[in-house]
Amino acid sequence: MQIHLETERLIIREIELSDVDDMFEMDSDPEVRKYIDQSPNQKKEEITDVINFIRKQYEENGIGRWAVIDKKTQEMLGWCGLKFYREPLNGLVNIYEHGYRFKQKHWGKGYATESSKAILDWGFKNLNTEIIYAITHLENKASIHVLTKLGFELKEVFQYDENLECNWFELKKEDWKDFNQTL
Ligand SMILES: CC(C)(COP(=O)(O)OP(=O)(O)OC[C@H]1O[C@@H](n2cnc3c(N)ncnc32)[C@H](O)[C@@H]1OP(=O)(O)O)[C@@H](O)C(=O)NCCC(=O)NCCS
Repeated sequence: MQIHLETERLIIREIELSDVDDMFEMDSDPEVRKYIDQSPNQKKEEITDVINFIRKQYEENGIGRWAVIDKKTQEMLGWCGLKFYREPLNGLVNIYEHGYRFKQKHWGKGYATESSKAILDWGFKNLNTEIIYAITHLENKASIHVLTKLGFELKEVFQYDENLECNWFELKKEDWKDFNQTL
């Protein structure tokens, strides 16, 4: 099992097939998926496919969303991290996009902020990129707030697909360095 990072309360490691129950608890919750899509995963087999899909990205891109683990209880709380896009996202290719998702019972405890901070710091130090992007549903106020706290700037609203507009956020490496001092 590959551990990537450690924070005060959290261990950040690769998502494993053994995380299926925790991922299922999270992804079958309609509240968790409210601003993502309206079709919660109802079967564990679907979650296994999701995990395999993420693990394929680790192999192909050297990175993907990572599991966020409570140091004290060892529970998987959710996932957080950078996804590499080879296919166009808002017209751009070969970019890193930051995202996160946590079990509802753990919202509001600062886990998205704490894990993001460590991952963004790692990303700017280890990946050859000057900018990291993020997207949110226009009404996902919690996520918009987290990104703003982390120093992301809302740049525009873009057409995610033919039916959905989303917010487009950017965080520049040069701004992260300054901003990180104040966090
Ligand atoms: C978005 C999400 C990841 C945030 O995770 P979290 O661990 O609760 O985030 P944090 O506790 O680090 O920070 C949440 C912040 O948003 C604030 N917040 C929560 N709900 C809010 C709302 N409706 N309006 C404004 N701010 C809100 C909290 O007060 C907190 O800010 P504070 O620390 O300044 O008080 C979590 O709600 C989640 O998993 N949602 C479902 C999946 C999802 O939408 N993912 C993002 C897709 S873009």
